Amino acid sequence: MSNKKIVFASLPGADNEPTVDNFRCEACDPAPSPGDGELTIQTLYISLDPAIRCRMNTDTGVEYMSAWSAGDLVLGLGGVGMVTESNVDQYAPGDLVQPMVNWPWVEKFSARADDKLFTLYKIEESLREQPHLVLSLLGLTGLTAFLGITQRGHISPGANQTCVVSGAAGATGNLAGQIAKLGGCKRVVGICGSDEKCEHLRTELGFDATVNYKQSDISEALRQTCPNGIDVYFDNVGGTISETVIKQMNPDSHVILCGQIAVYNKDLPYPPPISEEIQAVIKERNITRERFLVLTYQEKFQEGLKQLQEWYMGGQLKVPEFVHEGIESAPEAFVNMMTSVKQTRVGKQLVCVNK
Ligand SMILES: NC(=O)c1ccc[n+]([C@@H]2O[C@H](COP(=O)([O-])OP(=O)(O)OC[C@H]3O[C@@H](n4cnc5c(N)ncnc54)[C@H](OP(=O)(O)O)[C@@H]3O)[C@@H](O)[C@H]2O)c1
Repeated sequence: MSNKKIVFASLPGADNEPTVDNFRCEACDPAPSPGDGELTIQTLYISLDPAIRCRMNTDTGVEYMSAWSAGDLVLGLGGVGMVTESNVDQYAPGDLVQPMVNWPWVEKFSARADDKLFTLYKIEESLREQPHLVLSLLGLTGLTAFLGITQRGHISPGANQTCVVSGAAGATGNLAGQIAKLGGCKRVVGICGSDEKCEHLRTELGFDATVNYKQSDISEALRQTCPNGIDVYFDNVGGTISETVIKQMNPDSHVILCGQIAVYNKDLPYPPPISEEIQAVIKERNITRERFLVLTYQEKFQEGLKQLQEWYMGGQLKVPEFVHEGIESAPEAFVNMMTSVKQTRVGKQLVCVNK
């Protein structure tokens, strides 16, 4: 039986954009028959996550992820697989599984079910027809949007608040905008990188207005789309976009510091420093801006997943996904995501490895 994997071929350098040449797709040995306590797993879906960019540096800068070395099999974050052989009582062929993190980018592999690196969970039977939802809505992405907005957004229904979301067409951003609206925000404005994506956010996902940061004077566009100033900012990107947003924030408003993708290809600590001018604005206007990490809210995960599923089942929350076909498409899809090029579609980026 043939098998393929994605290997990390070379470091881009901490200050450079990644390229497809930093990866290699290789034929590899078939997964061995499972030993004692092991399972053989067929990968179905791989999640593409900006956070793994830091694994391409010699120092990831975060304690919860280790760096890749050239020649290593790529260990991403999320994935979904199907057990094909099992030597573990709790698992049977056909079971669907996911890890907390560290899914290997390989078509088929054998692993211990209790591997510390990996920690597998079974996926509920009710998700058998669409198991990829655990990589978008019903996993860390959905929880990041939900817990960011509900724990840090200070949204009160009826308070006439305006929420701006950057990276709004991405996996986390589109959900954050929809959830802000469901939570009672009066006006939700999304910032993203193409007119097609802007239109999708407005017509399909309920955003009140959008800004294409590649085509507009962002400052002027925000003045027009946020006439009452900004009360909540869900920040996925950082950099100049975020500095421009913060300058238009109201007193006692809140930044949800979710991610800073605009600077992931730069050699900066996380979170990256902000200019003295913006620090002064934050201080004078009493704006809260603290790092947000979804993993610190694990006690709220079950409650969050229940609410997300209810909204989804009730048709109040839409979950756009952008699915690339075949494991060999993963490097290019990841690079396009990190460089914001050739990306026309809204939503969670997934690679379908096997249906
Ligand atoms: N805090 C947490 O616990 C946590 C958990 C998960 C994710 N995150 C963070 O959340 C953010 C979004 O992650 P995601 O998985 O949902 O990814 P995503 O938003 O689906 O994909 C990234 C998007 O960022 C945009 N982008 C790329 N380069 C950019 C640049 N230089 N300037 C502005 N926008 C750029 C691109 O869209 P455009 O077309 O709009 O440019 C791209 O589609 C990331 O910063 C990630 O690290 C944080």
